[in-house]
Amino acid sequence: MEALNRKCLSLKKMKQMGFLIVVRRIEIDYKAPAGEGDEKMALKTISIDSVRDYEGERVTICGWLTHKRSSGRIRFLILRDGTGIIQATLFKGETSDSAFDLYPELTQESSLSVTGELRKEDRAPGGYEILVSEMEIFHIAETYPISPKEHGIGFLMDHRHLWLRSSRQQAILRVRHSVIKAARRFFDDQGFTLLDAPILTPSSCEGTTTLFETDYFEDTKAFLSQSGQLYMEAGAMAFGKVYCCGPTFRAEKSKTRRHLTEFWMIEPEVAFADLKMVMDLAEAMIITIVQEVLKTRQAELHILERDIARLEQIRAPFYVISYDEAIEFLKDAGESIPWGEDFGGGHETIISNRFDRPVLIHRYPTETKAFYMKNDPDRSEVALCVDMLAPEGYGEIIGGGQREDDSEILKTKIEKTGLPPESFDWYLGLRRYGSVPHAGFGLGIERMVAWMCGLEHVRETIPFPRLIDRLYP
Ligand code: 4AD
Ligand code: MG
Repeated sequence: MEALNRKCLSLKKMKQMGFLIVVRRIEIDYKAPAGEGDEKMALKTISIDSVRDYEGERVTICGWLTHKRSSGRIRFLILRDGTGIIQATLFKGETSDSAFDLYPELTQESSLSVTGELRKEDRAPGGYEILVSEMEIFHIAETYPISPKEHGIGFLMDHRHLWLRSSRQQAILRVRHSVIKAARRFFDDQGFTLLDAPILTPSSCEGTTTLFETDYFEDTKAFLSQSGQLYMEAGAMAFGKVYCCGPTFRAEKSKTRRHLTEFWMIEPEVAFADLKMVMDLAEAMIITIVQEVLKTRQAELHILERDIARLEQIRAPFYVISYDEAIEFLKDAGESIPWGEDFGGGHETIISNRFDRPVLIHRYPTETKAFYMKNDPDRSEVALCVDMLAPEGYGEIIGGGQREDDSEILKTKIEKTGLPPESFDWYLGLRRYGSVPHAGFGLGIERMVAWMCGLEHVRETIPFPRLIDRLYP
């Protein structure tokens, strides 16, 4: 009981001193059988990120061995548990003989638990060590395929299920978590309703050449969704402001650093909104995400050696240029691109390298954009659409705009695409029952994460990437 009281006192004292105490622990409180010592009653299985709350206490930590070394009568184990790393130190004579003798058996990635006293140790990675008295092995790992030596990207991708254990991959995927959390919170805080879009759909949203087809029942075909947008439009007419966040699929045969075949999008849609309103919304959302990443992911950005100054300068207002101006800019940069053509990845890189903040390019030629875009009433050859390009050469991260709200014009546009008009009856119906101006956009999560982390390629920004030449593991 003494140890337990001691901890309660120290937490109380810290509270009095004004510390905000966040105790994170895996709640496996040790229940001592009747008659066992008080010492064990206070034993806690803790996570490594909470060690500073337990200095001087006897605790248990579960994890995997990243490496080990020995010098004379001392043996060191470096353990990770997903929340951090810690040094576990074994002393001949102080550690139980049974634990000490297990040392030679331990291979990289073996899983184990260590029990002992926690203390501060500035020389140890993470600044703490556990003086091991007891050790329990869950599993002795076979020879681990990933070692500190350089592996090719193909090898690492084949071992993606294990590669996720490396600190760099964890840093990237934690940034991803923050990006999604910040984006969702942004919309939640503004009164948007989360509305999940279907994955299996009866028709295309973005164009037939980029569609995955699958057999459905009774000779019907289904398609993996390219975007939740059309369903969000229905949602906006019901709820006013909605968003979805989920996986979307593109079968385009693009083998570039920006393309996945399965990627995640967050897509807001707003009733009674025009192009300008969603451009402002997109800007505010991006600022919120960047701020959240900077606030909560400093350690991860450090591991990734991200130039944080480049992210700190992301503030309003972003640059806004028209497609026409972008064409002029590209021509000045020596590119021969005629008016009317869509930008390729190379063009986007040139434009986005030119700006230190995101740039919104609006009013692309109608011919380059999807059927649902509304034509500019003052200039029918351009659409009321917008792409946002991230700086530092990252290119397009957002696509969106104002939707065609006239049922006859929309019907003609659908017919022009060659898509089966009957699958769009419901969508056209949205324009027959109280049609209103409405607009929205989609943010590609992986491209956003690649930009935040300063990565060359999107393949590391999603736990299990699906690329034109990769479906495994
Ligand atoms: O520009 P896109 O194709 O727009 C739409 O799908 C709209 N229906 C969205 C909407 O208005 N609700 O895609 C939007 C974003 C792109 O800017 C890009 O960030 C990302 O999704 N994206 C991809 N990311 C990875 N791999 C791909 N193949 C991607 N295609 C688009
Ligand atoms: Mg686009």
